[in-house]
Amino acid sequence: MKKSLIKITWPNNIETYASEGDDWFSTAEKAGLEIPTGCLTGSCGACEIDVNGETVRACVTNIKSKKEKILNVSLTTDPYWEY
Ligand code: FES
Repeated sequence: MKKSLIKITWPNNIETYASEGDDWFSTAEKAGLEIPTGCLTGSCGACEIDVNGETVRACVTNIKSKKEKILNVSLTTDPYWEY
């Protein structure tokens, strides 16, 4: 089965393409963005991003296609870290 590319739009308005199963960190790098990390085991939440309005933890989630084929990503901001 041929994999189709998934279009991803990033908060800096850059668009990249990824395949199902690609990891979020290297895909974000292609867009010039860095997803923050902490534990890398899925427990701290530092790497949370919003994908089409759904929060995912990038360190334990791979890119999955949705019906829409376009994933809109925003980096979540932790209100406790903003001054
Ligand atoms: S880095 Fe801690 S949950 Fe992903």
